[in-house]
Amino acid sequence: CSVRCMSSAARKRRALRSAFPVLEQPLQPIHQHVYESNLRNSIACHKKYVELSEKVRIGGGENAITRHTQRNRKLLVRDRLRLLLDDEDFLELSPLAGLGLPYGDIPSAGCLTGIGRINGLWCVFIANDATVKGGTAYPITVKKQLRAQEVAIQNRLPCVYLVDSGGAFLPLQSEIFPDKNQGGRTFYNEAIMSAMKIPQVSVVCGSCTAGGAYIPTMAEEAVMVHRIGTIFLGGPPLVKAATGEEVTPEDLGGARLHAEVSGCVDHFAWEEKEAYECTRNIISTLNFQLPEEEEEDEVETKKRKAEEEPLHSLEELPGLAPRSYNYSLDVKMVVSRLTDGSRFQEFKARYGTTLITGFAKIHGHLMGIVANNGELSYEAALKGSHFVQLCDQRDVPLLFLQNTSPTAAPTLSTAEVNSNRLKAQGSMMSAVACASVPKITVVIGGCHGADSYAMCGRAFDPNFLFLWPNARVSMVAPGHCGSLLPSDSEQEEEKNKKQEDDLNRRLTKESSAFFSSGRLWDDGVILPQDTRKVLRDCLDIIKQQQYQLSTDKLKTT
Ligand code: COA
Repeated sequence: CSVRCMSSAARKRRALRSAFPVLEQPLQPIHQHVYESNLRNSIACHKKYVELSEKVRIGGGENAITRHTQRNRKLLVRDRLRLLLDDEDFLELSPLAGLGLPYGDIPSAGCLTGIGRINGLWCVFIANDATVKGGTAYPITVKKQLRAQEVAIQNRLPCVYLVDSGGAFLPLQSEIFPDKNQGGRTFYNEAIMSAMKIPQVSVVCGSCTAGGAYIPTMAEEAVMVHRIGTIFLGGPPLVKAATGEEVTPEDLGGARLHAEVSGCVDHFAWEEKEAYECTRNIISTLNFQLPEEEEEDEVETKKRKAEEEPLHSLEELPGLAPRSYNYSLDVKMVVSRLTDGSRFQEFKARYGTTLITGFAKIHGHLMGIVANNGELSYEAALKGSHFVQLCDQRDVPLLFLQNTSPTAAPTLSTAEVNSNRLKAQGSMMSAVACASVPKITVVIGGCHGADSYAMCGRAFDPNFLFLWPNARVSMVAPGHCGSLLPSDSEQEEEKNKKQEDDLNRRLTKESSAFFSSGRLWDDGVILPQDTRKVLRDCLDIIKQQQYQLSTDKLKTT
């Protein structure tokens, strides 16, 4: 009866007492040297981030923009998104994908993807940027589209396609067409998503040629813009070559034809603005039961009031972003700058201390945090498995703060230690792979070797994976490959040294966060000081599926 008989003031006091303990992790003079070195590195990485982001902003360049807006009288892709989405506060995915590829720089991989709100509902968008080679699909474009569809599937989000594409980029057709995760997969996914009741809407706001023609045709509802949108398998030049017939794009596959004759599209729009308004209305018919706006505002205000900002400034995070593994400070300093009120209910604080585990709230969302704080030892990996299973059982989403060891080979000596560790790491991988709760990974330092798998690397299917600009992604970190190369006779020492230097140079180049993001091994580079906001968006997005109407929509295939 003691709890039931409590006065409301006593209950409040008790509620306050049950708040998670505060992590007191101020910067101390002893941290200064490492902090400053990290900060210098973060500033240089930030400069590169800004430079690449600016390159992406101008898409295919001035001439292509003029051709797009003046000759073809179309809106630019970011203006389209402005009309489609509730506001500009959307989560863009992999904006730097497509930069620094063997076949050149493809800004935004020719296609913007992300998650934004339409009438309050989070939706994935996949929007071609036709200023980049007529919106044609490069291999990286296909990969980016497939990843966006995967995000829609994994998080049960409606998906809107803004199609303005000349189809395959023909010179690279062999890398786009034949394999499993290439062009055809987009259409396969569309069918599977429909079967899973993941709504898909398409807006034809440019060319939909060849393969591209199936995107609106297979979406559940499609809107097409007069004089701008065309859908055909082969364009007028192809028809002329095949039959000698001269036909205009509008007559061959314009909006009138498809809205009035073929029925390929469901809505005709006289101009682009009307098409996005129509799409917003379509989204309102999806029958998600979001909390009523007033009710939501009230809940939101209460929730946000209950939230506390971290005690320590997020602006200190760039100085805590390790320049290398040797420059890692206690990861609790990072945790305490991400969680509400810097509060953290640590789990197994005295065991396997090279991995930190515990519960915290981020913008009011309860999360289990798993953070590297040294090598993933036997004890650390056992602790990791235990904690991940605990979160899975309690249905608590997981956040992995990854900073894994730079060497592929364990540094510990005895066979017993090594094999025990191997087994414990295997268990942790199983626990992470099998946990059915949402997972978010942020690589705050190194992403190296098998430790990175256990820390929910890309292959372990986290719902989202982001990198800080200082992150390094490679099997072995630069400077650590020497002992792993086969050693030849002493006479060959010079040759071995050269081989090692070459490999280290290569590793330095290939392990940068921008190299990784350019190839779409992640969902984007985010600044350390933006991490809390990105996590809030991801957690809000993940939560949305609870508002879907019928429970059978939540079944996975
Ligand atoms: N493969 C490779 N490059 C292509 C391409 C394709 N399928 N389609 C267009 N491009 C290139 C053009 O060569 C041009 O390159 P440049 O800027 O270096 O000169 C650029 O993309 C823009 O094309 P352009 O025709 O000048 O622009 P536009 O806005 O007037 O028209 C399209 C764009 C996409 C409507 C038009 O180019 C087209 O119809 N392309 C062919 C589409 C096709 O048949 N695809 C079949 C793929 S299986």
